[in-house]
Amino acid sequence: MSDERYLTFALGKGRLANKTLELFEEIGITCEEMKDKNSRKLIFVNEELKLRFFLAKGPDVPTYVEYGAADIGVVGRDTILEENRNVYEVLDLGFGKCRMCVCGPASAKELLQHHERIRVASKYPGIAKDYFYNKKHQTVDIIKLNGSVELGPLVELSDVIVDIVETGSTLRENGLEVLEEICPLSARMIVNPVSMQMQTERIKTLINQIRRKLSETAGQ
Ligand code: PRP
Repeated sequence: MSDERYLTFALGKGRLANKTLELFEEIGITCEEMKDKNSRKLIFVNEELKLRFFLAKGPDVPTYVEYGAADIGVVGRDTILEENRNVYEVLDLGFGKCRMCVCGPASAKELLQHHERIRVASKYPGIAKDYFYNKKHQTVDIIKLNGSVELGPLVELSDVIVDIVETGSTLRENGLEVLEEICPLSARMIVNPVSMQMQTERIKTLINQIRRKLSETAGQ
């Protein structure tokens, strides 16, 4: 009975979605409709497997999954931590690896040692707040930015930033560095708790297939 129903996936737009679709193809889940780059369609269907896919802005993926508009989502751990939604995180997909860090000029290092009240710019105010208030017990002023966060210390908007570091080249090219590491990040699969209960077999089979493929690839 439950297999009659569509299983719906929300994928974070961009590189993450492309990597996810590549991985799905490797386990025999394809969605030809999605390959047409000129299409303006928002929802793509694989009728045979009873699967539906849609692309959403990363921060919206946990929202779709929490409300059950999607059964499954794929999004970065940064977004999961920031959005703090009621979803199950079931799998580390291993790609999109990077780190959430406190960064700034080398001279800002000492501001982090003495519990000074400093200004922190970030696209991730929730993660920044949790780190400074709950882990470091340092009172800070958090300034929300929407991108190019490295500008913060450069134009003296903030003392430091909390941001994603992948290769480190954005920092290097702007005379900034990692001052403290908050946590490692990568793409994760999340599941709506009710879907997990109602479609346990189907979802668990999918998770196991992906897990096997990932460990095969890692062993190669
Ligand atoms: C991200 C992040 C850093 C950069 C890190 O920004 O916010 O700025 O990538 O990558 P790197 O360590 O390899 O240099 P993104 O390109 O997503 O754009 P944004 O600045 O608009 O958020």
